[in-house]
Amino acid sequence: MVSSPPLTIPRTIVLVGLMGAGKTSVGKRLAARLGLEFRDADHEIEAAAGLTVSEIFEKFGEEEFRKGERRVIARLLDEPVHVLATGGGAFMDAETRATIRQNGLSLWLKADLDTLVERTSRRNTRPLLRGGNPREILEKLISVRYPIYGQADLVVESSPASLDTTVDKVLSALSGQLAAETHMAG
Ligand code: S3P
Repeated sequence: MVSSPPLTIPRTIVLVGLMGAGKTSVGKRLAARLGLEFRDADHEIEAAAGLTVSEIFEKFGEEEFRKGERRVIARLLDEPVHVLATGGGAFMDAETRATIRQNGLSLWLKADLDTLVERTSRRNTRPLLRGGNPREILEKLISVRYPIYGQADLVVESSPASLDTTVDKVLSALSGQLAAETHMAG
């Protein structure tokens, strides 16, 4: 673990990236290291709907899910500064992306295909991966989504080996970004 001076986080840190990139597991550890609350947009959507993400997709379709996701993320970004993990499609939505750009500090957790396949194989809760071969689906999503995720304020490679290594990399990326912002403001 890297020891560093405490960081003052001015805006909610919004983790974006594909399913299996580690947004939730890294986000929880990051929040603990920063002394901030952790929120998970998918959980908030489930709580608001009283349904799981899979049930929302089944009953109402992806478009309705995206509408709920837009509302929930806008609401969360009005709350006090915290660490927010978003579902993999959230940053793909132009409106959600604009809300995040305006009110948050976005960080793309970038992972390679093998890591994503391995991590997503542990749970069967992702409707988008049920329609075919998960590796092929994830490969397609990488080609469509990575150029958009690349618009995030920061990018950190999600280490397949250790969550703590990834959290350390996130903390150092954040401290670099915040130092640059302070410098520009001053
Ligand atoms: C989705 C990712 C999921 C969830 C939904 C759609 C996506 O979240 O929001 O199944 O479009 O990539 P995770 O990235 O947390 O798995």
